[in-house]
Amino acid sequence: MRILGLVLCLTLAARADDLELRQSGKAVAHFSLQQVKAISTPQALRLDGGLHNYWAIPIQPLLEKVYGKAAYGEDITFVFVCRDGYRSPVKAEELKRLPAYLAFASSDSKPFVLESKPLGPFYLIWDSERYPERKVGGNWPFQVVAIDRASFSQAYAATLPPPKSSAAVTHGFALFRKHCLSCHQINSQGGNMGVDLNSPYSVTEYFQKPYLYKLIDNPQKLRNRATMPGLDRSLPNRKQAIQDIIAYLEAKAAQRRASKTAKPGK
Ligand code: HEC
Repeated sequence: MRILGLVLCLTLAARADDLELRQSGKAVAHFSLQQVKAISTPQALRLDGGLHNYWAIPIQPLLEKVYGKAAYGEDITFVFVCRDGYRSPVKAEELKRLPAYLAFASSDSKPFVLESKPLGPFYLIWDSERYPERKVGGNWPFQVVAIDRASFSQAYAATLPPPKSSAAVTHGFALFRKHCLSCHQINSQGGNMGVDLNSPYSVTEYFQKPYLYKLIDNPQKLRNRATMPGLDRSLPNRKQAIQDIIAYLEAKAAQRRASKTAKPGK
């Protein structure tokens, strides 16, 4: 019995390190690290002037093997699903234009961790030496266990700005999509590291605006031990950016209230 249990544990452990490839939420392929390496040849990547050194596979051959040469497209997003609830939607166009890699080990003597968090089984990285617009570690998804190819407008339909939104709200949504959606849901769509910001109540309904602004700007200024990172400090027009994100959250709240009154009893 004990041996059987051990064998079972080992098989489960091996499977837990597999990479699952999905299409609109449905699994279409499973690969072990060995299989991943057979599809795309590993390279040693040196980042940040040698501070971080990884073994990584270029991601394009893997995506094209599973989804075909036409894997990319205007509305296509690849959602990197992580063990801790982080779900990072990366535009297909960004994976095509700036080749990304899946790192699976350190190529120096350091452990495969970042700030003591294990990075495996897979860590999505870009060659920031060649593409400086991709900063090392800038919310790069780690502990990636699945990649889901989906249409953004379908998979994230409930997060879209209401029809005929103002320019501020539309801009706020673009920022939210890039900086917040990996961790937060809007109407149950998005990441699971933080709370849903619109359902059942919007954060704009129970937070006073100056405090909401402060939280997005610098969460530790509002709450001791907050783990959320503040909005990227290098963002141009950052003040306006925070205001636009709040405008988007307010628009989603108004949309939800309007849909409730339209359908009594719901
Ligand atoms: C890396 C994950 C992560 C990112 C990115 C992130 N958040 Fe958070 N957020 C959290 C976590 C975790 C909490 C819970 C409090 C804490 O630990 O800081 C939180 C809390 C919040 C709260 C308070 C909710 C409540 O009811 O208490 C708001 C509002 C919020 N986040 C908004 C945002 C916005 C807007 C963005 C984008 C600019 C963002 N967050 C980006 C993880 C994240």
